This record gives sequence, C-alpha cells and structure tokens, in this order.
Amino acid sequence: MNRLMVLTGGGDCPGLNAVIRAIVKRASQEKDWEIVGCIESFNGVLKDPAEIVILDESNVAGILVKGGTILGTTNKGGPFAYPVRNNDGSWTTMDRSDEMIRRLQYMGINGVINIGGDGSLRISKALADKGLNVINVPKTIDNDLSSTDYTFGFQTAVQIATESVDKLVTTAASHNRVFILEVMGRDAGWIALNSAIAGGADVCIIPEISYDIEKIKEKINSRYKKGRGFCIIVIAEGALSHDGKKVGAKSSEVGYENFMLGGVGWALKQELIAAGIEHDVRVTLLGHLQRGGTPIAYDRVLACEFGVAACELALKGAWGNMVAYRHPDVIAVPFEEALREPHLVERDSRLVRTARGLGISFGD
Ligand code: F6P
Repeated sequence: MNRLMVLTGGGDCPGLNAVIRAIVKRASQEKDWEIVGCIESFNGVLKDPAEIVILDESNVAGILVKGGTILGTTNKGGPFAYPVRNNDGSWTTMDRSDEMIRRLQYMGINGVINIGGDGSLRISKALADKGLNVINVPKTIDNDLSSTDYTFGFQTAVQIATESVDKLVTTAASHNRVFILEVMGRDAGWIALNSAIAGGADVCIIPEISYDIEKIKEKINSRYKKGRGFCIIVIAEGALSHDGKKVGAKSSEVGYENFMLGGVGWALKQELIAAGIEHDVRVTLLGHLQRGGTPIAYDRVLACEFGVAACELALKGAWGNMVAYRHPDVIAVPFEEALREPHLVERDSRLVRTARGLGISFGD
C-alpha cells in the first residue's frame, strides 16, 4: 500500500478543500494508494499522539464548495521552527525536521502533497533537500507566485473586493464622499488593481507604484463639481505609506513571524486631510472577508486541476515539483524555479496601461 499525506499550510484561501477532494478522488481510481490528511500543516505529524486522518471519498463528499480547509492550517511553527515552551514560560523554536521525516517513514508515508504559498514552498524545498518526497500546490489570494499564471483563491478575492467597490459606490455617491477601500496584497497589488478596474474605481494604490499625495488630491477634486461627486480609492494593504514604510503591527501570536499588515487606508486618509482635502473621507478595511467563504467557479476549476495534477505527479514519483498553471496547460515546475522571484505588478504592464486608459490614477 502506498500512502500519500496531504496538508494545507500558511493562510487559508477559498479552494483548499477543492484541492484536497480532487487528490482523494484521483487517488481512489488507483489500486493500493491511500490518502491521509495531516492536521494543521506539518504540525499534526509532530504532535503526540499524531493528528493524522484517513481521507476517502466519504469524508471529502460535499467539501468542493466549502471555504477554509477541513485539515486546518497555520503559518506558525512547522518542522524547522517548532515552538517549544521554556521552563520560565517563554517560547523558543526547535528544528524537528529530521525527527518528522523519521516519523513519516515510521507511518509508512511515501510522499507528501503540501498545499501552500511561498512559506510552505520554502519548507517543502528544505525537506526535499533532506530526501523527503514532496509535491507542492500553490495557494494564495495575493497571486504573487511567479511560476503560475494564477493561484486559486485569487479570483474569489477579486470578486469579493469588486462587490465591495460596487457597494461603496452607491453610498459614496449618495453622500458625496471619498471612500478608501483597503484590500489584501502583502507585496503585490493584483487584488487592488483587478478590483479597481472591475469596480470602476478612480484611484488605485499598490506596493509596486509609489504615489504623490498631491496627484491623488488632484484626481479626487476632478471627480467633484460644485461640491457634488464622489471618489473611490482602492489601496493594497502592502502599499508604502508616506514615510516609505508598510503599515501594521507585530503580532503577539507565538511563532507568527509575519508583520501583520493593516491600516494603510487610515494613514492615507490622514495624509489627505493634512494635504487639505475638503471632502468627507471614509475608510473600509476589507481584511479576511477576502479569504473566507465559497470559492467562485473559476477557483474551483483551477483547484480541481491542481489537485488532480499533483496526485498524478505523486503517482509518477515526480517529486520536488510544484504544479502551476501556464495557459493553456497545468505543468510541473521544480522547487528552485518556483521559488525564484515573486510575481509583482509591473508599471508598464498591459493591466496597468488598461487602468490608466480608463482614467484610473496610481497617484504617480
Ligand atoms: O498572503 C495572503 C495574505 O492574505 C496577505 O494578503 C495578508 O497580509 C496575509 O495573508 C494575512 O495573513 P494572516 O491571516 O496570517 O494574518
């Protein structure tokens, strides 16, 4: 019996369950392949007792449409930095990767499919370097992985952000207000750019293009006549504030290494006030609403394609690869290549030119 372990790591994203289901369904067509799920990324293997569940068609029934992940996920801990409490109550981390590989061998696990973003990919690469059989499935709503045209979850997030712009337009127009909508996008402005175009926003502020507050003010004022009008600004959480820094806070969660972004929309409002804007400015921070709920059809299809392709790579023993979508194919990309550079918005790209052609200002 071959045993394949599936896990989800990093922040969740609509479509994770669709990938898990696709892997289980594809494997069930083979003789002698069993799928097990590891709870909370790799941490389930390292717990005592281990938290591993058998996954068959009966327990993935109905999960195609469900957001989140039935396996749970985390962006804390992991085999290379497992949190351990000291006697004095403080925390430290421990490299348990060798122990984890031994545990997997003991459990008769031949290979792992790790569904995650860039952090998960780095963990997979380091485990593969130690001899573990791993395949990755890319996941992030930010769509910032370079070797795949799209990650599942991204289009759902764009849809949610666009519906939010649509809703803000009606209230902004009724009150002659300026609305700033802060959306996710740690390093890449894809969600902001796509939802700004799809929602017909006036200004789009992204990490890749630095802005001049006077230019934004000019654009806002151009949207008003005799005090009447409105303006919609979409800003990515990772956009740099006027002092050149990202806005957020350090998390108090043990083992959480990421800087917790949030609040650049409020910083922009303060900057506009300081620059003398005379209209009423309101801020909406969309946050994790973009990551929750049902995946839209596009993301379900992509997730199914990734799940089936990842399972087939495992069946062939093509370890050390990440599945990727390169129109019109789903291909396998070696870990080193997949890790190369992030997929960011380029200022002279087609989509940025389209936005400028529609009169959307980037504040530059
Ligand atoms: O990487 C995806 C993402 O949604 C980012 O846009 C955001 O900054 C981050 O995850 C938030 O992660 P968490 O929920 O762990 O704070």
